[in-house]
Amino acid sequence: MPRLSARAHTLQESAIRKLDLTVAKQKDVSFYRLNIGQPDVLTPQPMLDAIRSYQPKVIAYGPASGTAACRAAAAAYSSRWSPGLSAEHVVVTAGGSEGLLFAFTAICDAGDEILVPEPYYTNYNGFGTVAGARVVPIRTRIEDGFAIPSDADLDRMVTPKTRAIVLNTPGNPTGVVYSRAEIGRVLNWAKKHDLFVISDEVYRQIWFGEPPASALEFPEHSERVVVIDSLSKTWSACGARIGFLISRNGELMEKIERLGQARLGPQPLAQEMAIAAMNLPESYYDDLRAIWRGRVLALYGSLQELGLQAPKPEGAFYLMVKLPVTDSEAFARYLVTDFRDRGESLVVAPGPGFYADPSDGRDQVRLAAVLEESKLVRAAELLGKALKAYGSR
Ligand SMILES: Cc1ncc(COP(=O)(O)O)c(C=O)c1O
Repeated sequence: MPRLSARAHTLQESAIRKLDLTVAKQKDVSFYRLNIGQPDVLTPQPMLDAIRSYQPKVIAYGPASGTAACRAAAAAYSSRWSPGLSAEHVVVTAGGSEGLLFAFTAICDAGDEILVPEPYYTNYNGFGTVAGARVVPIRTRIEDGFAIPSDADLDRMVTPKTRAIVLNTPGNPTGVVYSRAEIGRVLNWAKKHDLFVISDEVYRQIWFGEPPASALEFPEHSERVVVIDSLSKTWSACGARIGFLISRNGELMEKIERLGQARLGPQPLAQEMAIAAMNLPESYYDDLRAIWRGRVLALYGSLQELGLQAPKPEGAFYLMVKLPVTDSEAFARYLVTDFRDRGESLVVAPGPGFYADPSDGRDQVRLAAVLEESKLVRAAELLGKALKAYGSR
């Protein structure tokens, strides 16, 4: 057998996808699927219209960093947070995922370290593995609302190999929104150690209290800030595979452009959708927030009624919930393979998938509020019944 790379062997299997394979094998059961962040909110009509009116004679390659029109539209949209952004500050990527991969790759040499507050979006591990970088978790705790530790605590995590810190606000899986002051603090701290700050803001338009600040809002730190945005969640277009890497650091953007050249350009059709998205009126975002606020608060309220601990999400559409179990992976499997109530059950994402060390988060699960409110209330009812049944086995 020819040998595969050590890197290939260290790629993590997604715990969420693994559970999905078991779900697919179940017969005669209807599942409330709260395990993945795939919204069922309709993609805005102008984006669908853009597909219909795309009638090229040849489906040609587009420019490596995205079409001029798409970059300009994304820059104009993002200027809400950083006035004066222009096309040169934006590279169009295949989803936020590729933007993160490009950022990790451009910033890190083999063995370099990227600090990430945990629990965190699982795929950061995969981007780290592919880029040859090590994701180093910064422990935050459900009990204190997943707050970022003090500067002194952060200082202790820095080594000569540390190159960047990732912020994800609003956060997946925590629902945390960092205040403007908090982002400013982290930026000042990063300056002290000369680190990049990669701010994953793919949920920036989905918030329930104060609007989230963006790392783009700090011109004094613009050379160390890289922001990731995406069409997936805000515009309900996960399958379009369009994201944006935004930075005012010219040297970094030149290297990102080269990474883009190595894989040729992002899809032109999907970029037409993105242009339509960027031109939606402000009321679109108000309506979107009303949908997500209703859902997230319905699920949060139902969990409160069950007496379960979950920090109240301030944005995004996930809840990290503490359960009275010692192995949330076993409990998640039990939901899929054993528990049924009137032919129904639910699928949850086990907590360990969001921690660097899989022995952490074993009493937690992540729920994605991706269904209509009434379905979320029923899903929470199922969770309560399942916990009772599981405890008394
Ligand atoms: C925090 C976070 N960042 C990035 C992504 C990547 O999304 P996409 O590649 O679809 O833009 C996701 C997807 O769930 C996410 O939750």
